[in-house]
Amino acid sequence: MVCLGNICRSPLAEGILQSKVDADSVFVDSAGTAGYHVGNPPDKRSIAVARKYGLNITHQKCRKFSEQDFTEFDLIYVMDRSNFSDVASLAKNQEEAGKVKLLLSEVELGIKEVPDPYYGGDDGFENVYQMIDRACEAIAKKLN
Ligand code: 4NP
Repeated sequence: MVCLGNICRSPLAEGILQSKVDADSVFVDSAGTAGYHVGNPPDKRSIAVARKYGLNITHQKCRKFSEQDFTEFDLIYVMDRSNFSDVASLAKNQEEAGKVKLLLSEVELGIKEVPDPYYGGDDGFENVYQMIDRACEAIAKKLN
């Protein structure tokens, strides 16, 4: 799960998808395309909305997406088109590039990008939580 900062959207996506799949067979992680917050825990507002729905994401630590992730992961879900081009530009071949997908391409919500809630209010985090949850439900159905 990849977003820009790895403190708002992708930590939620990591926590939500991991909660819906068998931890012995599916490993979910998240990263950011930018390094501004490396080493930090998720944004307080992401922690709060996750907690509201029974998920604890406080143990997560921000890291930057790296080329190595193409080797370690089978699927790379990105939150928006900007993340898509940043990640896809690091792919070494077609196989790696083919792993990159927009998260919302898994569902029909009428939008293709998870909006960045960083500069908005708490309702943005609720909204983002709901759309990520829908997409992760669809992914989990395919993986389980
Ligand atoms: P995220 O949100 O990509 O969902 O983690 C952001 C977090 C931080 C910044 C931008 C977006 N920032 O500019 O610091």
